[in-house]
Amino acid sequence: MSGHGAPVPMISHPSGPLRGEARIPGDKSISHRALILGALAVGETRISGLLEGQDVLDTAAAMRAFGAEVARHGPGEWTVRGVGVGGFAEPDRVIDCGNSGTGVRLIMGAMATTPITATFTGDASLNRRPMGRVTEPLALFGTRAHGRAGGRLPMTVIGAADPVPVRYRLPVASAQVKSAVLLAGLNAPGETVVIEAEPTRDHSERMLRGFGATIETGRSEEGHVITLTGQPELVPQRVAVPRDPSSAAFPVCAALVVEGSEITVPGVSRNPTRSGLYATLVEMGADIAFDDPREEGGEPVADLRVRHSALRGVEVPPERAASMIDEFPILAAIAALAEGRTVMRGVAELRVKESDRIDAMARGLEACGVEVEEERDMLVVHGRGAGGVAGGATVESRLDHRIAMSFLVLGLAARAPIRVDDGSPIATSFPDFEPLMQGLGAAIGRDAV
Ligand code: S3P
Repeated sequence: MSGHGAPVPMISHPSGPLRGEARIPGDKSISHRALILGALAVGETRISGLLEGQDVLDTAAAMRAFGAEVARHGPGEWTVRGVGVGGFAEPDRVIDCGNSGTGVRLIMGAMATTPITATFTGDASLNRRPMGRVTEPLALFGTRAHGRAGGRLPMTVIGAADPVPVRYRLPVASAQVKSAVLLAGLNAPGETVVIEAEPTRDHSERMLRGFGATIETGRSEEGHVITLTGQPELVPQRVAVPRDPSSAAFPVCAALVVEGSEITVPGVSRNPTRSGLYATLVEMGADIAFDDPREEGGEPVADLRVRHSALRGVEVPPERAASMIDEFPILAAIAALAEGRTVMRGVAELRVKESDRIDAMARGLEACGVEVEEERDMLVVHGRGAGGVAGGATVESRLDHRIAMSFLVLGLAARAPIRVDDGSPIATSFPDFEPLMQGLGAAIGRDAV
């Protein structure tokens, strides 16, 4: 688990052109869901392209603790023999979800309407994050939860013995909360309804449908409405996990800012609920081609071709935030190398991610010689243009993989190397980040302690 071992200091140096093909690992969101829905189906689900990052491995271990048989057969090749909706066994140990908010929140939902008790914990980052956003809607089903002050982990969840279906309007744009409610709704009789103001990533809806659940989506004056019919028998599936657009963002942005670069990134998910960064990059003047658009594993994908580009600052529309919520750290990093200001509004959710990402990016960028403005739900980066970022700083990653990777990318195009105090969290989502970036020609590596 991240944060449990010794820190791994890392450094990136100004680099020559990046060239070649970047084969990105499987999508993290889809990998968690494939394991959880596989565990709730009756029979054997086969998964290919599963992300073998620590977050997902922790979810695999949790599914075993709830009674599913989970086996690895080769790189990314996994099977899950599920126990059926309502069939989870009571775990005989504490469920440690490591660094993963997605893991813990989805699993809480998946067990919340089964009459069993489970205790959840995580690393120092996860144990600081709010769980009330999940336990409040789960209480409407009849689930009880006892955690630390402020709804923090460690927390014990007592599943509802006689769950009732729920109608719930999301107070924050969160696919994790939406998914927790839908997963809980699986074992409640009748229809569970979730309403969201802005659509968030829809992998749970797509995959629930794929596993045979009846789920309808539509728009009303209240917003985007998702209706799930409870107590289906989920049918095991073959799930081909597409490559993660959030991980792809790091080599893509690196190629955009390192002069002379040209890379290809095959088979990246183009799901519109995940594509906000790519729309923003194009507006900034990025030269990105989306070749051979097609469908793989129920998700739209394309092959990306990315060339070094002169970038200009932009205003990101707040309604786009949900579709690029994990990409603001890398956007903030490369915005420092653009001409003019980049304005990111409606981003308060960044404060409750693996770290307070507004604060982490603001402090790190300032240390690298970049001017920023910060409010509770806004970050403005004053771009210094190509070659304008001094670097030469050590930045704290704060147990946050995306903060670590964002500054390592920035160091490739800064005037002096950028050090990151601890790169170990990168293993939660992108275990091959370092060799993959090195393979493209990036001077990223371990730093002397
Ligand atoms: C995720 C949802 C998002 C995202 C996270 C993955 C998911 O979190 O930041 O990395 O897989 O549902 P929120 O639901 O908190 O926005």
